[in-house]
Amino acid sequence: MLMGMKNRTKRIAEGDQIVARVTTATIRDKKAKNDKITMLTSYDYGMAVLVDQAGIDMILVGDSVGNVQLGYENTLAVTMDDMVHHTRAVVRGSKHAMVVADMPFLSYHISIEEAVRNAGRLIQEGGAQAVKLEGGEERLPVVQAILNAEIPIVGHIGLTPQSVNQFGGFKVQGKDLETARKLIRDAKLLEEAGVFSIVLEGVPGPLAAKITAAATVPTIGIGAGKDCDGQVLVINDMLGINQGHIPKFVKRFADLGPAILEALRDYKSEVEEGTFPGPEHSYTIKDDVLERLY
Ligand code: KIV
Repeated sequence: MLMGMKNRTKRIAEGDQIVARVTTATIRDKKAKNDKITMLTSYDYGMAVLVDQAGIDMILVGDSVGNVQLGYENTLAVTMDDMVHHTRAVVRGSKHAMVVADMPFLSYHISIEEAVRNAGRLIQEGGAQAVKLEGGEERLPVVQAILNAEIPIVGHIGLTPQSVNQFGGFKVQGKDLETARKLIRDAKLLEEAGVFSIVLEGVPGPLAAKITAAATVPTIGIGAGKDCDGQVLVINDMLGINQGHIPKFVKRFADLGPAILEALRDYKSEVEEGTFPGPEHSYTIKDDVLERLY
């Protein structure tokens, strides 16, 4: 058994065709080697195929699916069934990246038992390799119970979108002494509990740098400056597909929205003018077959 495992590891190391998924160990190793970690969200099969092909380390099936795919105002309406459905599609589309599924609002707030069952659904039904949940000290009992069920966790602190009503809007966190100290403490407690990485969202860069330097687990920043161990963005934002407000921390690596709109308008005109489909898009039939039809 042990011998078999050794051989398999060797074949992967030799660049054989076996594609191994990124694991929690890979992610921890990256921090140890000072290699940056890449994470992007995806919500469907097609995008997951592309993100995986690009060699991104982790795909987050974020509850941002609520805003960017389902048209909700925020993430609060997203359900466990939504998350399982989208996670399954992303897992089918990826071979290499680690798939992390978000635990949606209220799926881990009611009881520890429910939280473990819901985290288990994302692994068992969804096929994810890990889950992410928001919060620090106040979520420790739930974090510990999920970890006890052998489910790896990505923590998430700072501007946690599920707390939007509590925060009174999407506000950068940790700007004053009290909230900055709370974030440092939350990161330490999550690390001690055993999460394998921590997302820092909407946190001043210098504070994120301090948290990162003190942490033994990797930090993954979004709106948290350049000194985190890795970065994550919502894919629709970075590809320029989203309409409406785009946060300051987003860089548009492409502007696909206008390109898609132009293609859709061209399609409409060509269909209406009768120039699409052309002969090159049509199938032929022999004339003698056609002539004998009527
Ligand atoms: O749901 C999501 O997309 C997220 C990222 C913003 C980290 O949680």
